Amino acid sequence: MDNIPTEPAIIDLPKFLDRRGNLSFIEQGQHIPFDIARTYWVYDVPGGETRGGHAYRQNQELIVALSGSFDVVLTNAAGERRVWHMNRSYYGLYVPSMWWREMENFSTNSLALVLASTPYNPEDYIRDFDQFRKEGV
Ligand code: TYD
Repeated sequence: MDNIPTEPAIIDLPKFLDRRGNLSFIEQGQHIPFDIARTYWVYDVPGGETRGGHAYRQNQELIVALSGSFDVVLTNAAGERRVWHMNRSYYGLYVPSMWWREMENFSTNSLALVLASTPYNPEDYIRDFDQFRKEGV
Protein backbone atom coordinates (compact mmCIF):
# COMPACT_ATOMS: atom_id res chain seq x y z
CA MET A 1 0.00 0.00 0.00
CA ASP A 2 1.32 3.46 -0.89
CA ASN A 3 1.64 6.22 1.67
CA ILE A 4 1.89 4.11 4.81
CA PRO A 5 1.13 6.44 7.74
CA THR A 6 4.00 7.10 10.14
CA GLU A 7 2.00 8.74 12.93
CA PRO A 8 -0.20 6.91 15.45
CA ALA A 9 -3.84 7.97 15.38
CA ILE A 10 -7.15 7.17 16.99
CA ILE A 11 -9.59 5.83 14.42
CA ASP A 12 -13.23 6.47 15.18
CA LEU A 13 -14.98 3.21 14.26
CA PRO A 14 -18.61 3.01 13.20
CA LYS A 15 -21.03 2.50 16.06
CA PHE A 16 -24.67 1.59 16.08
CA LEU A 17 -26.07 2.57 19.42
CA ASP A 18 -29.13 0.52 20.19
CA ARG A 19 -31.15 -0.08 23.33
CA ARG A 20 -30.69 -3.82 22.63
CA GLY A 21 -26.91 -3.31 22.84
CA ASN A 22 -24.33 -1.50 20.74
CA LEU A 23 -22.50 -2.72 17.67
CA SER A 24 -19.25 -1.64 16.01
CA PHE A 25 -17.31 -3.11 13.13
CA ILE A 26 -14.15 -2.83 11.06
CA GLU A 27 -14.06 -3.44 7.31
CA GLN A 28 -10.89 -3.98 5.38
CA GLY A 29 -10.30 -1.17 2.93
CA GLN A 30 -12.68 1.14 4.81
CA HIS A 31 -11.51 1.91 8.32
CA ILE A 32 -7.84 0.99 8.63
CA PRO A 33 -4.84 1.83 6.45
CA PHE A 34 -3.67 -1.77 5.94
CA ASP A 35 -4.89 -5.19 4.89
CA ILE A 36 -5.50 -7.51 7.83
CA ALA A 37 -3.19 -10.53 7.86
CA ARG A 38 -3.68 -11.57 11.50
CA THR A 39 -5.85 -11.00 14.54
CA TYR A 40 -4.87 -11.69 18.13
CA TRP A 41 -6.13 -10.69 21.53
CA VAL A 42 -4.65 -10.15 24.96
CA TYR A 43 -6.70 -11.12 28.01
CA ASP A 44 -6.45 -12.29 31.63
CA VAL A 45 -3.63 -9.83 32.24
CA PRO A 46 -2.78 -9.81 35.95
CA GLY A 47 -2.82 -6.41 37.67
CA GLY A 48 0.44 -4.50 37.30
CA GLU A 49 1.69 -6.45 34.27
CA THR A 50 3.06 -4.77 31.15
CA ARG A 51 2.76 -6.31 27.68
CA GLY A 52 4.75 -5.32 24.63
CA GLY A 53 8.12 -3.74 25.15
CA HIS A 54 9.11 -3.97 21.51
CA ALA A 55 8.74 -2.38 18.08
CA TYR A 56 8.00 -3.90 14.71
CA ARG A 57 10.11 -3.19 11.66
CA GLN A 58 7.23 -3.73 9.20
CA ASN A 59 4.07 -4.72 11.04
CA GLN A 60 1.32 -2.16 11.57
CA GLU A 61 -1.49 -2.68 14.06
CA LEU A 62 -4.87 -1.46 15.21
CA ILE A 63 -5.57 -1.92 18.92
CA VAL A 64 -9.14 -1.88 20.28
CA ALA A 65 -10.18 -2.15 23.94
CA LEU A 66 -13.10 -4.52 23.40
CA SER A 67 -13.66 -4.69 27.13
CA GLY A 68 -12.29 -2.82 30.15
CA SER A 69 -9.38 -0.42 29.78
CA PHE A 70 -5.61 -0.21 29.44
CA ASP A 71 -2.95 2.29 28.42
CA VAL A 72 -0.91 2.09 25.24
CA VAL A 73 2.43 3.89 25.47
CA LEU A 74 4.19 4.61 22.17
CA THR A 75 7.68 6.04 21.80
CA ASN A 76 9.40 6.85 18.54
CA ALA A 77 13.09 6.65 17.75
CA ALA A 78 13.45 10.37 18.49
CA GLY A 79 12.30 9.65 22.06
CA GLU A 80 8.86 11.26 21.74
CA ARG A 81 6.49 9.41 24.09
CA ARG A 82 2.69 9.39 23.85
CA VAL A 83 0.08 7.66 25.99
CA TRP A 84 -3.46 6.65 25.05
CA HIS A 85 -5.99 5.49 27.61
CA MET A 86 -8.10 2.96 25.74
CA ASN A 87 -11.54 2.41 27.26
CA ARG A 88 -14.05 2.51 24.41
CA SER A 89 -14.75 -0.34 22.02
CA TYR A 90 -15.47 2.06 19.14
CA TYR A 91 -11.98 3.60 19.10
CA GLY A 92 -9.04 1.90 17.44
CA LEU A 93 -5.47 3.05 17.98
CA TYR A 94 -3.46 2.81 14.77
CA VAL A 95 0.15 1.89 15.54
CA PRO A 96 2.55 2.38 12.61
CA SER A 97 5.70 0.32 12.27
CA MET A 98 8.80 1.53 14.13
CA TRP A 99 7.10 2.77 17.27
CA TRP A 100 8.16 1.22 20.56
CA ARG A 101 4.97 -0.14 22.18
CA GLU A 102 4.00 -0.93 25.70
CA MET A 103 0.55 -1.82 27.09
CA GLU A 104 -0.05 -1.37 30.79
CA ASN A 105 -2.59 -0.54 33.52
CA PHE A 106 -4.98 -3.27 32.40
CA SER A 107 -8.27 -3.24 34.26
CA THR A 108 -9.82 -6.45 35.54
CA ASN A 109 -11.33 -8.48 32.69
CA SER A 110 -9.94 -6.20 30.02
CA LEU A 111 -9.70 -7.53 26.50
CA ALA A 112 -7.40 -6.01 23.88
CA LEU A 113 -8.11 -6.89 20.26
CA VAL A 114 -5.21 -6.38 17.84
CA LEU A 115 -5.44 -6.42 14.04
CA ALA A 116 -2.07 -6.79 12.36
CA SER A 117 -0.84 -6.16 8.83
CA THR A 118 1.60 -9.09 8.69
CA PRO A 119 1.64 -12.73 9.80
CA TYR A 120 3.54 -13.41 13.03
CA ASN A 121 7.26 -13.14 12.35
CA PRO A 122 9.73 -13.02 15.25
CA GLU A 123 12.32 -11.51 12.87
CA ASP A 124 10.13 -8.41 12.60
CA TYR A 125 10.44 -7.66 16.32
CA ILE A 126 12.98 -5.26 17.81
CA ARG A 127 13.12 -6.12 21.51
CA ASP A 128 16.05 -3.92 22.52
CA PHE A 129 15.29 -0.22 22.91
CA ASP A 130 18.81 0.92 22.00
CA GLN A 131 18.68 -1.21 18.86
CA PHE A 132 15.27 0.32 18.06
CA ARG A 133 16.64 3.84 18.34
CA LYS A 134 19.62 2.89 16.20
CA GLU A 135 17.42 1.43 13.45
CA GLY A 136 14.90 4.27 13.66
CA VAL A 137 17.24 7.14 12.86
P1 TYD B 1 4.48 -10.95 22.10
O1 TYD B 1 4.14 -10.25 20.82
O2 TYD B 1 5.91 -10.96 22.51
O3 TYD B 1 3.57 -10.39 23.27
P2 TYD B 1 3.63 -8.97 24.00
O4 TYD B 1 4.06 -8.00 22.99
O5 TYD B 1 2.24 -8.71 24.46
O6 TYD B 1 4.56 -9.11 25.14
O7 TYD B 1 3.93 -12.44 22.00
C1 TYD B 1 4.02 -13.34 23.08
C2 TYD B 1 4.21 -14.73 22.51
O8 TYD B 1 3.07 -15.13 21.77
C3 TYD B 1 5.39 -14.79 21.55
O9 TYD B 1 6.49 -15.38 22.18
C4 TYD B 1 4.93 -15.64 20.40
C5 TYD B 1 3.45 -15.73 20.53
N1 TYD B 1 2.72 -15.07 19.43
C6 TYD B 1 2.39 -15.81 18.31
O10 TYD B 1 2.73 -16.99 18.18
N2 TYD B 1 1.65 -15.20 17.33
C7 TYD B 1 1.25 -13.91 17.41
O11 TYD B 1 0.57 -13.40 16.49
C8 TYD B 1 1.64 -13.14 18.56
C9 TYD B 1 1.25 -11.71 18.69
C10 TYD B 1 2.36 -13.76 19.54
